[in-house]
Amino acid sequence: MEEKAGSIFSGRLDILINNASVFSPDTLTDANFNEVVRRLQINAWAPFVLSREFARRAGKGKIINILDTRIAGFDFKHLPYIMSKHALYLLTRMTAVEFAPHISVNSVAPGLILPPGGKGESYLEALASTVPLRRHGEPRDVTDAVLFLLKGNFITGQVIFVDGGRHLMEYCDGPDSDH
Ligand SMILES: NC(=O)c1ccc[n+]([C@@H]2O[C@H](COP(=O)([O-])OP(=O)(O)OC[C@H]3O[C@@H](n4cnc5c(N)ncnc54)[C@H](OP(=O)(O)O)[C@@H]3O)[C@@H](O)[C@H]2O)c1
Repeated sequence: MEEKAGSIFSGRLDILINNASVFSPDTLTDANFNEVVRRLQINAWAPFVLSREFARRAGKGKIINILDTRIAGFDFKHLPYIMSKHALYLLTRMTAVEFAPHISVNSVAPGLILPPGGKGESYLEALASTVPLRRHGEPRDVTDAVLFLLKGNFITGQVIFVDGGRHLMEYCDGPDSDH
């Protein structure tokens, strides 16, 4: 993976946005080693390798990691996924220190924005009432937060929750919850 990361970086680099991820349901009961490793590899290890290469080659700029509002609590239904996002959150803060002062590292944690694969707008509408602002967000809300971080020059190690306040609800996606 590190060799591949190296070949991606060929021109001038100013920003790196680690957005790609895999999301799937796996509970504490049925999560297995391979699933955990796969989520960690794509959602946390790949961003880390890319960030390290970015720091080495660009030397300055901005990195933004896309997290998930679920990091504010537990998500028993997506264990490997939430483990990987917690790992990326940790890496956000550690690389913010390690890559300073010429590179800032921040994160955006979206909430209800787009439905997961196989679900539609009705999924978002059904869950909107569980969000303090009583609606779901739009992709534009996420890009606005990303642009804010890209324009700023004195913010690093931060997470912006773009979730209508969902992280404040001591989010705990337990066995009886469906979001
Ligand atoms: N949707 C939401 O409401 C929501 C909520 C919270 C957090 N987020 C976070 O926001 C980000 C974007 O979410 P999304 O809903 O747009 O996700 P998505 O629709 O599932 O898209 C994920 C992207 O990751 C890419 N990807 C997956 N595995 C990859 C791999 N091994 N190598 C390269 N690319 C890979 C996919 O590429 P392919 O299409 O080529 O497979 C796809 O473009 C993710 O980090 C997600 O965790 C989203």
